[in-house]
Amino acid sequence: MKKLSLIYLLVFFGTLLLAQETAPEEIEHSPENSACFSCHGSTIYSYYNDILGRNVTKRMNPYFLIDSVLYYNQNHKSFVCTDCHSYECKDFPHNSEMRMEPMPTCLDCHEGDDATARYNFEKIDQEFQESVHSTKHSDEFTCWMCHNPHSYKINARTNENIKETIVYDNNICLSCHADINKYQLISPKKNPNVIESHDWLPNQISHFAHVRCIECHTASSDNVMVAHQVQTKDKAVKKCVECHSQNSMLMASLYKYRAKETRSQYGFLNASILRDAYVIGANRNIYLNVISGVIAGLVILLIIIHAILRMLLK
Ligand code: HEC
Ligand code: HEC
Ligand code: HEC
Ligand code: HEC
Ligand code: HEC
Ligand code: HEC
Ligand code: HEC
Repeated sequence: MKKLSLIYLLVFFGTLLLAQETAPEEIEHSPENSACFSCHGSTIYSYYNDILGRNVTKRMNPYFLIDSVLYYNQNHKSFVCTDCHSYECKDFPHNSEMRMEPMPTCLDCHEGDDATARYNFEKIDQEFQESVHSTKHSDEFTCWMCHNPHSYKINARTNENIKETIVYDNNICLSCHADINKYQLISPKKNPNVIESHDWLPNQISHFAHVRCIECHTASSDNVMVAHQVQTKDKAVKKCVECHSQNSMLMASLYKYRAKETRSQYGFLNASILRDAYVIGANRNIYLNVISGVIAGLVILLIIIHAILRMLLK
């Protein structure tokens, strides 16, 4: 229980950190969206009730609340709501058929799109189709489940601060794996407690703050920046040496883009990791290694000389 609350604390502070990042930026707020935000951006909303002949104030469903600061700081900030939602939203009460309308998928807009070709959406889609989330849950599990349509912002590619990216990416997974309500949208099964499932990992809190879930749960891929093929738990990385070694797999995943920088600096192996973490095994220092070898040799030599002298003096 203590561990669980610590993790939540970690997530909480991480979120605060991210919220700070999303400080006001100059964007033109569309007046069209303001009409939607007048209700969907506030915990209460008012409308004119024709039947009663007066204004009434009601509570907004918390799941239908949209944070305008996050909205205007995301990938699709230039969008008006009705680019994705039906024009009928403009009327209130909303047409009841509206809620059954199919939503556009990422591929509807990004497939074959030159402007975003570098992301390789087609390959991401293929990896996602092969993931445990798709193979076990097909149509209900869409890209939107992880990419909140009203707040998703790219991080791994653009954010220099790796710790923030780790928190951001892990919160995506924890939004279900640590939230019974959202998990149950997808599956009637019991949501396994991720803290208990990772009991074998020492310093779990430190590990969850220094590596992403996807490091251990996806096969890393050369064609996309962020691997999307989440595999079943029996395929997850459990061996410590995968990271704690000279050939740390972190250089091919989390530190992929920094790996282009020197692998060795001031004698430290995998120096690009060192800016954010000291990973035992992966960040051995060659000079320190040599020095400690020399010291060990000298100690042994001293012991031998000492032993010989004692034998001779006897
Ligand atoms: C007068 C307040 C009000 C305004 C203005 C308003 N909405 Fe809503 N909206 C609601 C309420 C209340 C609900 C939940 C009840 C319902 O579905 O009618 C809702 C529900 C929704 C839903 C969820 C439907 C579902 O059940 O899945 C969407 C999507 C939506 N609104 C989009 C919009 C968009 C886009 C705009 C602006 C063009 C907008 N709304 C303007 C009050 C409003
Ligand atoms: C890029 C496309 C896109 C834009 C732009 C967009 N939405 Fe949505 N919205 C979605 C999708 C997709 C869903 C369904 C999410 C799901 O099923 O998980 C959704 C769901 C909703 C819901 C229901 C909440 C829920 O979780 O089911 C509301 C309310 C809503 N949108 C309002 C808005 C408002 C207001 C705006 C503008 C400020 C807006 N949306 C802009 C794609 C978009
Ligand atoms: C309705 C069409 C539409 C849908 C649906 C859509 N996008 Fe986009 N997306 C765009 C457009 C257009 C842009 C360029 C926006 C701009 O420059 O203001 C964009 C921009 C982006 C960017 C930023 C590109 C950059 O380099 O700035 C990312 C990342 C992205 N989308 C990911 C997604 C993902 C992931 C999904 C699905 C979860 C998705 N999009 C769904 C149309 C869409
Ligand atoms: C299980 C959760 C999950 C699902 C499902 C998912 N993604 Fe992602 N996706 C992520 C995470 C985590 C990131 C990393 C976000 C970051 O730091 O930028 C990401 C990043 C991305 C990026 C940015 C990669 C880059 O090169 O910067 C794109 C584009 C993307 N996803 C598209 C998709 C599309 C398309 C789908 C559906 C076919 C999808 N995602 C489904 C979790 C998911
Ligand atoms: C929308 C909710 C949701 C999100 C977000 C989500 N998952 Fe899942 N995940 C599930 C559900 C539901 C299952 C159960 C699949 C099944 O039926 O066995 C699952 C299964 C898994 C499994 C397989 C467990 C096993 O029994 O083999 C792993 C591993 C996993 N998720 C990791 C992740 C990672 C990593 C992320 C983030 C990149 C993530 N999940 C994001 C809902 C989610
Ligand atoms: C250091 C590697 C590593 C990291 C980091 C990691 N996992 Fe795991 N995870 C594993 C391994 C290995 C298992 C299988 C454990 C077993 O079966 O004993 C597992 C099991 C799971 C399961 C299956 C649980 C069950 O009992 O069925 C889920 C879900 C899961 N992880 C999600 C996550 C999420 C979410 C994160 C990020 C917050 C994460 N993992 C981070 C290695 C990792
Ligand atoms: C996915 C990569 C990965 C795997 C797998 C992994 N570790 Fe780590 N480990 C890290 C990183 C990154 C750190 C963070 C170093 C830091 O605190 O700066 C770390 C830190 C540690 C620490 C120091 C903890 C601290 O708080 O300073 C110990 C001890 C450790 N790992 C042991 C293990 C053991 C034992 C295993 C196998 C059961 C293991 N690790 C598996 C990446 C990994």
